[in-house]
Amino acid sequence: MPDVYNWQIGRTMAYPFAAAPAKWQFAFVFNTNRCINCQTCTMACRSTWTFSKGQENIWWNNVETKPFGGYPQNWDSKLLALLEEYNPGGQLWDPVTGKSPEAPYGRFEGKTIFEAAAGYAGAEGPKVALGYIPTAEEWASPNIFEDHARPEARPPSAVKHMTATLPEHKVWFFYLARLCNHCTFPGCLAACPRQAIYKRPEDGVVLIDQSRCNGYQKCVEACPYKKAIFRPNTGASEKCVACYPRLEGRDPELSPNGEPCETRCMTACVGKIRMQGLVRIEEDGAWAKDPQNPIFYLVRERQVALPLYPQFGAEPNGFYIPPRWVPRPYLIQMFGPGVGHAIEQYSCPDRELLAVLQLFRTAQQIIFRFEIQPGPKIAEIEVTMPDGSSRAQAIFNDTVIGYNKFDKEAVRITIEEPTFERPAIHPNSI
Ligand code: SF4
Ligand code: SF4
Ligand code: SF4
Ligand code: F3S
Repeated sequence: MPDVYNWQIGRTMAYPFAAAPAKWQFAFVFNTNRCINCQTCTMACRSTWTFSKGQENIWWNNVETKPFGGYPQNWDSKLLALLEEYNPGGQLWDPVTGKSPEAPYGRFEGKTIFEAAAGYAGAEGPKVALGYIPTAEEWASPNIFEDHARPEARPPSAVKHMTATLPEHKVWFFYLARLCNHCTFPGCLAACPRQAIYKRPEDGVVLIDQSRCNGYQKCVEACPYKKAIFRPNTGASEKCVACYPRLEGRDPELSPNGEPCETRCMTACVGKIRMQGLVRIEEDGAWAKDPQNPIFYLVRERQVALPLYPQFGAEPNGFYIPPRWVPRPYLIQMFGPGVGHAIEQYSCPDRELLAVLQLFRTAQQIIFRFEIQPGPKIAEIEVTMPDGSSRAQAIFNDTVIGYNKFDKEAVRITIEEPTFERPAIHPNSI
């Protein structure tokens, strides 16, 4: 297998194909601290792409209540357990050695799904990536354990189908919104024996060619996020298409001049937790240094948003601002060793970060560049940090401006929300 460089694990790794970097990469940042589990994103995708016969269990976007929820059920704990089985006690990070801008979380010393598969010797022969095919029962309940924080609160019907268990814990939960991560090194693509899956060179979107797919389901097995899903009545697998007509600026309503737009699940987000964009990729596969691009800024410059299970090795392009209230060991397992830094940054954002955080869900066109105009100081507040200490934070009414692909202004917003006082003659009118 060729070696490829995976910046999220801070080292090269074995992957079945040589790196073939896209020019731009579809990427997104989700702020888990703001998700209200309204499932509007889920239904926006559903009503656009997956409402037809045979797609009953196909939810390209889902929102699960962690730690007990998951779609398919236990997708992450089952894969973590499998990796542990193939590399007992070895799935560890070295967050210090080799830490650099190109290895921001240090180095993962364990085995990725591709490396672990090399030692696999099952009845069905060699595997390209360690994985499994979920059962019909695991696919059957997309919102299982929704809003359940305590194991004893689980409905008996759900307990019956539990395939993995977690230790009891203090009451906490959070909402994890998920879709295909359009990975740089996709497990689905690597495993397909028909080469029916491809990654678009123009935007890094990963698609399944329905005319080539023969329904082998190796993609379902090898996707560590379980975002390739088999459709029984067509005999082919399907996955999120990143609403590619929108990325191409082909939505006549939103893109009068061909401006790339955010996808359906992103633009519909009620909690304003989502920002999606395109990041420029260098010829060698590295992210081009572009600190005025909000995704680059949040992920690489400030490292406030982290990849989901980077240790799986697929280099996912979905990034999460971790929830502040969740125990650190759980978060570190899920988002890697950058969790402490990310939460500290987010808990008391400086002037620039606070401005960029305002851009979430303010424009439907993709923001390629932001600019900040300074405003007056409007408040001085005391912030309680995760370790219980307090910190003074000055708030300035800065203006942040987002520009589209053609460097035209797409949005302008201030830190302080503008208010309008209704005249007394219209007390209850709208
Ligand atoms: Fe493929 Fe899964 Fe990555 Fe999507 S998340 S590109 S389906 S491996
Ligand atoms: Fe669905 Fe589009 Fe969101 Fe993908 S990007 S989950 S296709 S709405
Ligand atoms: Fe969360 Fe936004 Fe989806 Fe609502 S629409 S569940 S706030 S990600
Ligand atoms: Fe390939 Fe998956 Fe189809 S493995 S053949 S894309 S079901």
